[in-house]
Amino acid sequence: MKLTIEDVRTRFIKHFDGSTGSVYAAPGRINLIGEHTDYNDGFVFPGAVEQGMIAEIKPNGTRKVRAYSIDMKDLTEFSLDDEKGPSASWARYIFGVCREMMALGVPVQGFNTAFAGDVPLGAGMSSSAALESVYAYALNDLWGENKIEKMELARVGQRTEHKYIGCNCGIMDQAISILGKKGSLMRLDCRSGEYNYFPWNPQGYKLVLVNSCVKHELVGSPYNDRRKSCENAAAAINKKFPEVKSLRDATYEQLDAVRGDISEEDALRAHYVIGERDRVLTVCEALEKGDYETVGQMMYQTHEGLSKEYEVSCEELDFLNEIAKEEGVTGSRIMGGGFGGCTINLVSEELYANFVKVAVEKFKAKFGKKPVIIDVVIGDGARKLL
Ligand code: GLA
Repeated sequence: MKLTIEDVRTRFIKHFDGSTGSVYAAPGRINLIGEHTDYNDGFVFPGAVEQGMIAEIKPNGTRKVRAYSIDMKDLTEFSLDDEKGPSASWARYIFGVCREMMALGVPVQGFNTAFAGDVPLGAGMSSSAALESVYAYALNDLWGENKIEKMELARVGQRTEHKYIGCNCGIMDQAISILGKKGSLMRLDCRSGEYNYFPWNPQGYKLVLVNSCVKHELVGSPYNDRRKSCENAAAAINKKFPEVKSLRDATYEQLDAVRGDISEEDALRAHYVIGERDRVLTVCEALEKGDYETVGQMMYQTHEGLSKEYEVSCEELDFLNEIAKEEGVTGSRIMGGGFGGCTINLVSEELYANFVKVAVEKFKAKFGKKPVIIDVVIGDGARKLL
């Protein structure tokens, strides 16, 4: 069910002093293509979704934040001046954002807040970036005179992941959660921070997510390990080819030239990233010509790379990808960090109903539970609602 302002407001009133505050929203995201390229200085192609986080906030005249998670039914209090912060992980996101905004000189004061989200957790749709972005945006509005520019707000969220959560993520999720635009995908150059909007209105096609409901765990090793492999490969290439600063600059030949210097695993990961960089650029060109067949082929290739080379897939996601192929879906692949979550599918309108039906039935028959179908509607980035 779609989350509404009222869902949050009624709890805010109930759990605090009965008064109301300001209300903000920030979305989760999809990504058409460009997976695990953001921390390699590459390109990504995300769009904000309609699902996201809504937070109500009111200054409370103290140095304390009193935060209520409506979904967890959990109330936590922390001091803005405490170095360590709260232990509940959902509250650490808010604490991290407060501390990082303060580090940028924003005179954040204590506040009461209640928040809730309708981005499915662990679906690879970036509920955590939505949480960071809603508070970064709100704090900038309430205490920062909106002086911090949007890309820097995204970096506040990213630093929160790195320093307070332990996930060395790239910038994609936070950037699109802050900068998303209704009806448009955004091509972001993660090296320069430059971005362009591409109106997304593919005549005759739909984008649909199939959520395997297998939960991923990005915090801790698997995601950070992938990033480390890329850095190892880039450093080895840089020694021989100093012009290569990150895998975005590298060629397959340069990778071959350093195979003896890095582990086979690191080389495999790097091989995927170099291919993915090229696929994003191919997709950009194809989109300009309205060539969705090429877009779809690139998506299948990405899935193959994520499954065999980057090794972030799982049985359930490979199964969903196979069904898409069998049903003639134009493009399909794992979306987001991997290790569970959704596939994103570009499917022609004629095939849509049948694909969804078959995917649900076959998945249920094999794994004993239904996957969740999510139609993609591209929505706006972080904003004030009330
Ligand atoms: C997660 C990270 C992003 C990005 C994707 C993979 O969503 O937060 O920075 O690396 O995985 O593309």
